Amino acid sequence: MSDLVHLESDGVAVLIDASAPGLPRVLHWGAALGRRIGDDDGSTSAAADASAAAIVAAVDRQAAPGTLDAAWQLSLSPLEGDGWSGRPGLQVRVGGVLHHPRWAVQHSSATATRFEVVARDEASDLVLEFELSIEAGGVVAVDQRLRRDDTAGGETAGDAAPAIEVDWLEATLPVPSTTDRLLSFDGRWTREKRPVTTDMPAGSTVRQSRRGRPGHDAPTLFAALEAAPRWGDGRVWAAHVAWSSDASYRVDRVTDQATLIGGGELLRPGEVVLAPGDAYAAPRVLFAHSRAGLDGVADGFHTLLRSRPHHPTTPRPFVLNTWEAVYFDHDPARVLALAEQAAAVGVERFVLDDGWFLGRRDDTTSLGDWVVDRAVWPEGLGPLAARVHELGMQFGLWFEPEMVSRDSDVARAHPDWLLHDAGHLDHDPRLSWRTQFVLDLANPAAFDHVLGQVDALVADLGIDFIKWDHNRDLVESVHDGRPGVHGQTLATYRLMDELRRRHPSLEIESCSSGGARTDLGILEHTDRVWASDSNDPVERQDVQRWTGLLLPPELVGAHVGPATSHSSGRTTALSYRMATSLMGSAGLEWDILGCDEDELAAISRFTALYRELRPITHHGRVVHPDLRDPAWRVTGYVASDAAVFVVATVASLEDARAERLRLPGLDPDRTYRVRVRDEIGAAAHGWITPGWFAAGELELPGAVLAEVGLQLPTLWPEQAFVLHLEAR
Ligand code: GLA
Repeated sequence: MSDLVHLESDGVAVLIDASAPGLPRVLHWGAALGRRIGDDDGSTSAAADASAAAIVAAVDRQAAPGTLDAAWQLSLSPLEGDGWSGRPGLQVRVGGVLHHPRWAVQHSSATATRFEVVARDEASDLVLEFELSIEAGGVVAVDQRLRRDDTAGGETAGDAAPAIEVDWLEATLPVPSTTDRLLSFDGRWTREKRPVTTDMPAGSTVRQSRRGRPGHDAPTLFAALEAAPRWGDGRVWAAHVAWSSDASYRVDRVTDQATLIGGGELLRPGEVVLAPGDAYAAPRVLFAHSRAGLDGVADGFHTLLRSRPHHPTTPRPFVLNTWEAVYFDHDPARVLALAEQAAAVGVERFVLDDGWFLGRRDDTTSLGDWVVDRAVWPEGLGPLAARVHELGMQFGLWFEPEMVSRDSDVARAHPDWLLHDAGHLDHDPRLSWRTQFVLDLANPAAFDHVLGQVDALVADLGIDFIKWDHNRDLVESVHDGRPGVHGQTLATYRLMDELRRRHPSLEIESCSSGGARTDLGILEHTDRVWASDSNDPVERQDVQRWTGLLLPPELVGAHVGPATSHSSGRTTALSYRMATSLMGSAGLEWDILGCDEDELAAISRFTALYRELRPITHHGRVVHPDLRDPAWRVTGYVASDAAVFVVATVASLEDARAERLRLPGLDPDRTYRVRVRDEIGAAAHGWITPGWFAAGELELPGAVLAEVGLQLPTLWPEQAFVLHLEAR
């Protein structure tokens, strides 16, 4: 391996300088260079060495005035000992005292897309295994594992060895100091993923989430930008922690050194303690770089997700979920009638939400008793599941496997299965949430109980889909005398994996009071997320578009609710609700037994349109034209020979004459037939009706659509239409 490692793939390059002793350093993470640097460039090894040396010389720096004497080296995991004065890449304590590892590289290797290094710290017997790879979509993945050797023997091994505690093991990559904005996210229940852009903060800044789930206000990612975020242009460097509970997102802008972004799992003191032979694997941290704005970041993540072997390959079924249709009012005859009606309008998956299990008449009881309530369902759920299957639909069922109600058979029999801090005198879990508590899944007996009950129902009923909910934060979580969030998260992953292993075609949706757990860690174990408990299409336009920065639309549930939203009270047109649902994995969250003939006919046309267009919306590249008027929300799905654009407003337009819509992503050399698909109903608009819009159809070259654009009609607020483009 040469001293300069050049990884390059999918438009992204990482240059690593491994010439100095200690951990290597990253010289560049960003756009691809187009030609190989170092030993693979086809030149002689002397020439390769010279070009490597030239690159090092080009970016190397000497000590700045007023700093440490030695030139500072940005290692893969920067520490104080490297002269780094930002937040260290890792922190460990030996016998309770902060320890400063001195890494000596034991082994390193590289391919065109992957670099691996193993380094050892003599004083502590700690071994750091570090792997950096460029994955599909140009997304850089960093995996780190900290292992405590037990081969040393002697004084440091065995029972007498002092405890080694891991406080954190985070991944960072450098970004140019020209980045002056930071984008991350905030939110609340029913308003997830609110973007927050600030000036790049000075010094080391950490945003932590300690909810035992990422939370409705999760940072989601940290993105460094060189200007205000735009969809279609600008350079962006973004980091995401693929982990489903507590996390730290960090940026370090140290003026005499560098700017780093990254993150990792947030561990509580004493949560991870390494005995000789133990190891801690940090969650994967993903880094996406784009030279084409936020759409480029999304494109990287979408390509990565779509390349996974377990990415859903079957068409994403049109769903009806019963929650807002019946809530806890489970009347088997009515639910059956709903299923019949659903099948009649083209629903492909029928999901029975909360309220079906032992004594669950409201949200105060029964979590943990995953047995069908015969008082409500005297014949069990068998007849419903069978009828749903007979009607040609999949059958889905709601569970909340990580939770337990005090008022449940399981909690009465096993009060010690609750995940809480039992070290207090009252031995009582504090702080219920929706009157529920957390089941300690790291306790094998509790794990087996849930696995057994859920598994039995999946097998008996032929359940195709689980809506897997998680409706509270974790508070004072203690397992076996230690902080328990880390173990609970891994146990949840194991439970999902074991169910999927036993039932290979089972799909799981990650719901957490809506979108409080939509990270790429949970997506390794699930097939879809419920983005929000808001079915208000105005709010959904934004929740979905920002959820889409990480997740492609086929993984994001988006349902049509009733005219007046249950969470916001806003009343919107059916066509608008349908257009918004078309933008994801579509469905209904609505009591359609109350719909009139016109509404049912419109829903049938919509489900047919969804089936027709999903090969485009679920496989195409997602693009967002940058428009000036803040009222517009336009999202495109561009496949190789077709595209769909959903054009919507969320408020009244500022301009009398709306701007032109330039459609990005098309093939400039092909001619497109552009049609307004009005199956969902016509959008109401005002005084400007462009000719093409009135005609409902036109044909233009891709270059004209991209550069000249289409004059937009003056849409009323909260209106939408669907454009369908087919290449000739
Ligand atoms: C959570 C979910 C909802 C619904 C209810 C059921 O709030 O986010 O979609 O499933 O639980 O209790």
